[in-house]
Amino acid sequence: MKKRVLVTHQLPGERIRELSAHCEMTIWMDPGLLTAQGLREELPGCHGLVCLLTDRVDADLIAAMPDLEFVSSMSVGVDHVDVPALTARGIPLGHTPGVLVNTTADTAFALMLAAARRVVEADHFIRMGNWTKENAWAPDFFTGKDVSGATLGIVGLGEIGQAVARRASGFGMKVLAWNRSVREVPGVESVSLEALLQRSDFVSVHLALSDSTRGLMDARRIAMMKPGAVLVNTARGGIVDESALAQALASGRLAAAALDVFESEPVAMDNPLLALPNVVVAPHIGSATTQTRASMADIAIDNAIAALTGEPMPHCVNPEVYSD
Ligand code: GLV
Repeated sequence: MKKRVLVTHQLPGERIRELSAHCEMTIWMDPGLLTAQGLREELPGCHGLVCLLTDRVDADLIAAMPDLEFVSSMSVGVDHVDVPALTARGIPLGHTPGVLVNTTADTAFALMLAAARRVVEADHFIRMGNWTKENAWAPDFFTGKDVSGATLGIVGLGEIGQAVARRASGFGMKVLAWNRSVREVPGVESVSLEALLQRSDFVSVHLALSDSTRGLMDARRIAMMKPGAVLVNTARGGIVDESALAQALASGRLAAAALDVFESEPVAMDNPLLALPNVVVAPHIGSATTQTRASMADIAIDNAIAALTGEPMPHCVNPEVYSD
């Protein structure tokens, strides 16, 4: 009898067609995302789940699914999944590292440049009809902050952090980095988190969200940042205290922030960050290029096919489930 697999969204890429040869596949086709309730209703009886980062796979859901044998998420981050609960059941969890590194680093850089040079504010200025003969150009018109030659502090020097460092060196930036376990990367000075915050003109966050990184950029650490600095977050919203950040931006202590991720997504329209002109925002699009999303989907499907054919997943978050 073929195993049953639920895929919670239509996926791009080439490999999805192959998955159906290995299982009885159900793809959630309704418009919009599958709700938590919908997932609870669709998953019983399934042996596999191919999900997105918007699907919460918590301990309760896992406990309620006795047939579940694998989970494959089309994401690199897995903070939406209770990994210890899966591991305790011996269930492998797949994710999609590597293929999104350059795309996400590009997004971090795009947001950093946009915040530094006030690109979004300037765009709104024109569209609102505010660019007139009287203010056509002035020496202090939309002045921002130089990226070239500035100091960039990278919080989390994994693959994405290192890709951001490479881009920064092309801009003649001095690159500092903090990583929990010290990593020596040519051209990057390893420093303490405190030194990084005190010395950097731009701080870019590239950490996974976990119990040890949740709220890492709290009010105390935001207050350590250099006056006039810019914070960029393309990692996870939960790493940054949003109200402390909003206060630092509103008071002018920080020049700007650029955020692709929020504590709660979609971000609430009354989030104070959205009222600030010096905040550039994006709706969690760090890896959103057509090619990268297709590559991520292909890896998610490869992980699922491996699980269905009794092989270890090529990109497994909890490979300890394979050791006896
Ligand atoms: C995106 O945020 C991902 O984790 O893939």
